[in-house]
Amino acid sequence: MIEFEVHPSESPMPAPDREAVLSAPGFGQVFTDHMVTLRWSEGRGWHDGRVEQYGTLALYPATSVFHYGQACFEGMKAYRQESGGVALFRPWANAARFNQSARRMAMPPLPEETFVRALELLVTQDSDWVPDEIGTSLYLRPFMVATQHGLGFTHPSDSYLFCVIASPATAYFGGGTPRALTVWLSEDYSRAAPGGTGAAKAAGNYGGAFAASLQASARGCDQVVWLDSARHEWVEEMGGMNLCFVYGRSGSSPQLMTPALTGTLLPGITRDSLLTLAPLFDIAAEEGQITAEQWRDECEAGVLTETFACGTAAVIAPVGRVRGASDDWLVGDGQPGPVTRRLRDELLGIQYGLRPDLFGWVH
Ligand code: COI
Repeated sequence: MIEFEVHPSESPMPAPDREAVLSAPGFGQVFTDHMVTLRWSEGRGWHDGRVEQYGTLALYPATSVFHYGQACFEGMKAYRQESGGVALFRPWANAARFNQSARRMAMPPLPEETFVRALELLVTQDSDWVPDEIGTSLYLRPFMVATQHGLGFTHPSDSYLFCVIASPATAYFGGGTPRALTVWLSEDYSRAAPGGTGAAKAAGNYGGAFAASLQASARGCDQVVWLDSARHEWVEEMGGMNLCFVYGRSGSSPQLMTPALTGTLLPGITRDSLLTLAPLFDIAAEEGQITAEQWRDECEAGVLTETFACGTAAVIAPVGRVRGASDDWLVGDGQPGPVTRRLRDELLGIQYGLRPDLFGWVH
């Protein structure tokens, strides 16, 4: 087992200042007192694990990550439990996905127990930073970057830095009952192509999305919906979150469908949890496929009644309106629907220790 030395910060944020941050945390703006760092070098493997004061990283301008973008990350949360303790949600699933991303990016995998240990150590060290309110949490951002000094491009980096940072957070689109989002169908840009890095949580997937995000906000939209890269026809995901579609009229059991993992979508852990959870509430759940045209026609016919985005940061965020270059339609009545609200409550209930943990997800 890789060991970590713990070096507590000598200048932690004073408690009243920390409490002020926790009362209105926002998303990813303020970071806790500590971070975890761990190095990898060729021939030596993983070494120099530390829990240390949150601070700057010293890297030369010629460090390879700045040039070739060899970097991947995870997103996860620590939740204050009803009992007062703190829990992670499915950290082993994040550990496994982190290594899938690492392999795709030709980076060294990290033993899963080391990944989870790093999270446990940071959350324990900074446990005062976990907010109490339902809907708030401590967002954890494990990431890995290539640290080789030099511009050579014949071989992946010969050294890497793994790091975990933490930031108190409300849900990405705000806490409480979420407002419905307006989303933009991106037809000019693509997020991922077959054989590319779309199924990995590679940093470049997110950097490459900003041009489409600017286009979305210029059209008054909150988020981009990515379509397949070949024909811009099939709905894939929203970049930072997956999409779920709810079918059914009142009186009949609803059905949930989320686009299948074709290799160009991120395998979301919230998505996977909902596929498991929904049937417990008489909501049949399956992976499938849908075109943007079907999405519009089925909303207009009243068959497709709800759409929501799901992800660690977003939790479950309803989609109320869809806009494209030549289209604009409402999903249902444009407001959060009952299936969206029910699944959000049930998921949050498990994460905060208010509902039984039937699947052993709470750590
Ligand atoms: C997460 O949900 O944790 C993500 O990584 C999305 C991020 C773009 C905020």
